[in-house]
Amino acid sequence: MTTHQNGCEDVARWRGTIDQTLTAISGGFGARSGPLGAAMAEAALARGKRFRGTLILLAGAATGEVCPTLVDIACALELAHTASLVFDDLPCMDNASTRRGQATTHVAHGEARAILAGIALVTESLNLLAVTPGAEPATRARLVAILAGALGPAGLCAGQDLDLHAPKSPDGVVREHDLKTGALFAAGFEMFAVFRGLPAGQTAALIELGLLLGRVFQSYDDLLDVMEDGDAAAARPRRGLLAANTASRAAAHYNRLREQLYSALSDCPFDAAPLAWYTATVLPDVAPRAA
Ligand code: IPE
Ligand code: IPE
Ligand code: MG
Repeated sequence: MTTHQNGCEDVARWRGTIDQTLTAISGGFGARSGPLGAAMAEAALARGKRFRGTLILLAGAATGEVCPTLVDIACALELAHTASLVFDDLPCMDNASTRRGQATTHVAHGEARAILAGIALVTESLNLLAVTPGAEPATRARLVAILAGALGPAGLCAGQDLDLHAPKSPDGVVREHDLKTGALFAAGFEMFAVFRGLPAGQTAALIELGLLLGRVFQSYDDLLDVMEDGDAAAARPRRGLLAANTASRAAAHYNRLREQLYSALSDCPFDAAPLAWYTATVLPDVAPRAA
């Protein structure tokens, strides 16, 4: 399931498409306030993997033509994801000073402008879907509703709130992962399914696939914290999956979810080998002793 002949080229191609489109979109951010637009563009164009958007374009290529609306769906996901990182890094959240190899938005532009830039990136992501060419007005409205739903109190905001404030338990952490991370992956696959007009059963299966991908992705991110060498990693308070599990149980949880993910990918209604290939490169197997 993880062999795919042109995996590297396919990923580079679609990632390039997303980067180019984000560059074009970002050119308009500063139309009313240059400094606000600069903060937004800097965050949006920093070197992210574009994992969420690239998966959608790989799915698009496996099912027909990759048209401008699919590219807009991919870019809307990436803009919303970038906004979530701007907020996540704020002093009142994770208080991070670097992100994607550069100063975080609040460090470079101040806290007030970072908050405004995050909000404006969310509204731009929704507007991209609202005006996307090549989709009927009713489809556009559904796309906007799906992304808005994934970001709000039934999705990412709720997940971040639980992450910061809820008591930790193994089941609670899975729920946190579904909301703070899975909701956005699931929204990407749901928008793809709606735009392609897939039947309800296939759409539901793709939403589940997105949630599973989010669980695997966030579990790996949590595990990375304890896999890093050095005293700093050991001294840091344990977060996410590691707040409620030993390191070896967390690694076993991750590997189990990973198996489920590959099984779900092999049941996809289209050839998901390119998605499985890319997923395997971003989310490698973790040896229990390594954690
Ligand atoms: C980081 O996501 C935030 C999490 C959900 C753990 P990514 O690892 O996809 O970040 P970028 O977009 O590549 O910077
Ligand atoms: C990132 O979460 C933000 C969201 C998932 C919304 P984390 O705090 O777990 O990820 P990193 O480690 O900062 O990238
Ligand atoms: Mg963080």
